[in-house]
Amino acid sequence: VLERADFGEVANVMKHHGFDGADAMLADLGMSSYALDDPQRGFSFRLDGPLDMRMDSRNAIRARDIVNEESAEELARIIYTYGEERASRRIARMIVEARRRSPIETTGELRAIVERALGAHRRGGAHPATRTFQALRIAVNHEMESLAALLRDGPARLNPGGRMLVISYHSLEDRPVKERFRELLRAGGYAAIARKVIKPSAAETSRNSRARSAKIRCIERSAP
Ligand SMILES: C[S@@+](CC[C@H](N)C(=O)[O-])C[C@H]1O[C@@H](n2cnc3c(N)ncnc32)[C@H](O)[C@@H]1O
Repeated sequence: VLERADFGEVANVMKHHGFDGADAMLADLGMSSYALDDPQRGFSFRLDGPLDMRMDSRNAIRARDIVNEESAEELARIIYTYGEERASRRIARMIVEARRRSPIETTGELRAIVERALGAHRRGGAHPATRTFQALRIAVNHEMESLAALLRDGPARLNPGGRMLVISYHSLEDRPVKERFRELLRAGGYAAIARKVIKPSAAETSRNSRARSAKIRCIERSAP
């Protein structure tokens, strides 16, 4: 059975199909390279396109809605919390100034605003718009809330001996996984199946640079 649904819907999807328990759950979080490289999806500041960023195109809220409609305070909060961007207030202020003239509709326009707010791009470092784009993407897709629901509901629906694996791609995603698994191990009923977080080998990252930041954490439900 293939089901197109949010990770956070795991409990409902299992119930809907009458599955009592899972032997394995694998959550491969984050972005798809196909979506990242498609300008029409609006995820990348490297490609000009509509400011969309919805992972599921059935959802109503796009990045352009947040950028044009949220208050400066809320924009700063999003950019600070989900982008870990120290200049979040300055970027938010410049977004609000720019949208007064005309709505911000493209990734190129947003990128130019962030560049103006942060100044020139230092060579070698990440592009200054990276953090703002990540933040908006997380907000548009309520990624932290979906992950929290998956981590809340998934482990309890594993069969005895069943395993849950989560692949995360940045620290904001990894932290809740690490904390939730630690909490389950402490509470009992679950066992660790790897002593440490699993990272890709140098050979893998040289073949596929986007694997660079990937981390796998896993847990096994113990037999009663
Ligand atoms: C890293 S990609 C991996 C895709 C697939 N495992 C593969 O190897 O081709 C992550 C995928 O999960 C999707 N995704 C992200 N957050 C999601 C969520 N909360 N619920 C369901 N899918 C999500 C993304 O749109 C993307 O297609």
